[in-house]
Amino acid sequence: MSDEILQRATQTHTLSKAEIVRLLSLENAEKLFVAADKVRRQFVGDGVYLRALIEFSNYCKNNCLYCGIRAGNTHVKRYRLTPQQIIKTAQQAVSYGYKTIVLQSGEDVWFDTDKLCEIIREIKKLDVALTLSIGEKSREEYAAYRAAGADRYLLRIETTDKNLYEKLDPQMSWENRVRCLYDLKELGYEVGSGSLVGLPGQTVESLADDLLFFQKLPVDMAGIGPFIPHPQTPLANEKSDGHFELALKMMAVMRLLLPDINIPATTAMETLHPQGRLLALKSGANVVMPNTTDTEFRPMYELYPGKICLGDCAEKCRGCVENKINSIGRFVAHKKGFHGDYLKEKN
Ligand code: 5AD
Ligand code: FES
Repeated sequence: MSDEILQRATQTHTLSKAEIVRLLSLENAEKLFVAADKVRRQFVGDGVYLRALIEFSNYCKNNCLYCGIRAGNTHVKRYRLTPQQIIKTAQQAVSYGYKTIVLQSGEDVWFDTDKLCEIIREIKKLDVALTLSIGEKSREEYAAYRAAGADRYLLRIETTDKNLYEKLDPQMSWENRVRCLYDLKELGYEVGSGSLVGLPGQTVESLADDLLFFQKLPVDMAGIGPFIPHPQTPLANEKSDGHFELALKMMAVMRLLLPDINIPATTAMETLHPQGRLLALKSGANVVMPNTTDTEFRPMYELYPGKICLGDCAEKCRGCVENKINSIGRFVAHKKGFHGDYLKEKN
């Protein structure tokens, strides 16, 4: 029965909610991973896009219950790079061969529109694609960043279960998050979203809804990360058992439903499994986002415990990731890697 579902999904890229639930519930999902890998090769090829991640501030005005840098965590040492430091880190990343820069931070109001636009303009002079991952903003702010040159925006929906979302993200509105995603889309960004997998109270049905939501938008990219409880948050005593496997299944089903999008092998996967990112790359993923933040700041950007490569420098991570990619017969694609590029080039 699930074989038939898989075969059809590989051809039509359409699944009902019940079928998605069935695939996510598989005890042995090997055939699902093989199917996702096949679709990945057919639609986005063997090249793996690297995105240089710069975590430029861990200040955050929000209080998501799962997140280590939530405003309520008074144990975190807060840091904020200056615009000059951010630009310098981007220049370094370019010197290591990166073609995409991702600027990520908590929701830090110190970076107003003028400061951000200036940073965006400077980084765009480096002939790279620029992705922002800085949270919920007004449509006007998104429009200003776009006009300054930003190409992509990452904003995970985290969960499409509105009640769960508003319980876990107090003071935030689920509707506003959806509004942000649609605004970004209308403004011509490549939009990345994604979910946390394994949140307390989350069901397989709601995970299936997440996937249908990504398909409906549709997203250009989506990152699936296992939830990992952080000891300095209200969710400290939750478990992370089984989250890796479930996240991997989510990611693989997403590849079947959205065959040509960019899907990262997320860092959180490697925290829960030593081969996490490689297994992800073999189960549908085609993107890796190595950390290029200065070693000094890495330990302070602790969204979840056990983040990998905390003591490493950007150059080391660059080399290490490429070796890993090559070890499974894949290669680093030295391109900006926009959604749809591979198919356009092939035809
Ligand atoms: N475990 C795993 N991922 C987390 N994130 C935040 N907190 C955690 C956690 N405890 C993820 C969120 C956010 C992304 C930047 O990090 O999904 O969107
Ligand atoms: Fe910063 Fe959720 S804690 S956005």
